[in-house]
Amino acid sequence: MNVYDGWRIVAMLDARGMTRTEDVSDADIIILNTCAVRAKATDKVYSALGRIRLVKKPNALMGIVGCVARESGADAFKRVPDLNFVLGPQSYHKLPEILNDPNTRLFNIELSGLEKFDEMPQMEKSPLVTYVPIQEGCNHCCTYCIVPYTRGREISRSFVDCIRDVEQAAKNGAVEICFLGQNVNGYKYTDENGKTYRLSDLIRTAAKIDTVKRIRFTSSYPTEMTDDLIDMFATEPKLLPFLNMPIQSGSPNVLKRMNRPYDLNQYMDIVRKLKLARNDIQISSDFIVGFPGETDDDFEQTLQIARTIKYINSYSFKYSPRPHTAAAIMPDQIPENIKSKRLAILDAELNEIQRAFNESCVDKTLTCLCEGPDKTGRHLVYRTPYMQQCIVARPDGEPKQLCDIVITAANKASLRGKIAD
Ligand code: 5AD
Ligand code: SF4
Repeated sequence: MNVYDGWRIVAMLDARGMTRTEDVSDADIIILNTCAVRAKATDKVYSALGRIRLVKKPNALMGIVGCVARESGADAFKRVPDLNFVLGPQSYHKLPEILNDPNTRLFNIELSGLEKFDEMPQMEKSPLVTYVPIQEGCNHCCTYCIVPYTRGREISRSFVDCIRDVEQAAKNGAVEICFLGQNVNGYKYTDENGKTYRLSDLIRTAAKIDTVKRIRFTSSYPTEMTDDLIDMFATEPKLLPFLNMPIQSGSPNVLKRMNRPYDLNQYMDIVRKLKLARNDIQISSDFIVGFPGETDDDFEQTLQIARTIKYINSYSFKYSPRPHTAAAIMPDQIPENIKSKRLAILDAELNEIQRAFNESCVDKTLTCLCEGPDKTGRHLVYRTPYMQQCIVARPDGEPKQLCDIVITAANKASLRGKIAD
């Protein structure tokens, strides 16, 4: 979502005739697009601001947008007095106001819902993989998560707006569409005639566009994987056989305290249905280790579920207490050294599963999307349907955007392959 927001900000400034620079000391406006999900991300923003203020041009405008702006509020100006603007994740469309009047301070952390989508110019060029946000915010209120505070309650964009964005992206060169939302499979929009649209309707409609070849979505809440959406994996070949469906923990006790009210049988049932719909489907997860009160036994259950489901492309994090969240004030906070130890063990397990999956791809033919040349220029980097990177010797002439690749070798980080004849 932040990458997408970043594109929109760049497009907005491009439209005003501004150009990008790699050199902070050359910039007239410096915008940090920020994440507040863990304390480390927030800390990095303030240390970056400390460095930037020493090297920036004296009159350059400097500010933050996104979740740290919302988390810090007006305190941000106290911490860094030379900030010119502090704009939350739903008010960055107000950025041009500071360009019109550089002598004011711009502050807006309101949750203005979908306003930003309507206010900003459409992008003129679309990358091969284009993100289309379909909903913002989250109603789940997991006890560790700051997102419901920073991005607000869940709100879905209209079906027509979402499809207009897909069509525009396809016209401008997108081959893969990734539908985005904090709780993307919770998408639900009822139009003025009372017709309700779900994510499955968006996928079905987007798939009808000829030049759209691949479709995916992220991030899903397990119990919102409804049957209509699961069916899409059986009936819509353009939908990639890969799904991010975070479990966070394998312990029922921890899940309860996280306020993620599903049981493991329910989760496993959904996985079974997905595999029945498409037997080559793979699932990725996010994990949090060291949640308050997590015992060795709880952690062991997380390892167990990771081995059972064989999650690929997963992310694991040490629990980080966040303001505005219930878990931050729970008793039995876990010491940092135990969190680090558990994270290292889980990461080793996830790497091993990934390596085994990558090796199982050798000799298979996968249809992959070209991301362009690698740093040496001698190879092309392709992306498999499972989001693995696949390196291929660069052929003469223009590379094919989408082509069949025979996988010839694998390690834990990437694949090697050759373009099929
Ligand atoms: N501490 C650690 N990880 C967190 N996440 C969300 N909040 C926290 C937190 N307080 C992780 C979850 C989520 C991912 C985006 O970030 O795993 O799925
Ligand atoms: Fe945060 Fe995701 Fe839980 Fe929503 S479902 S509160 S975004 S972790």
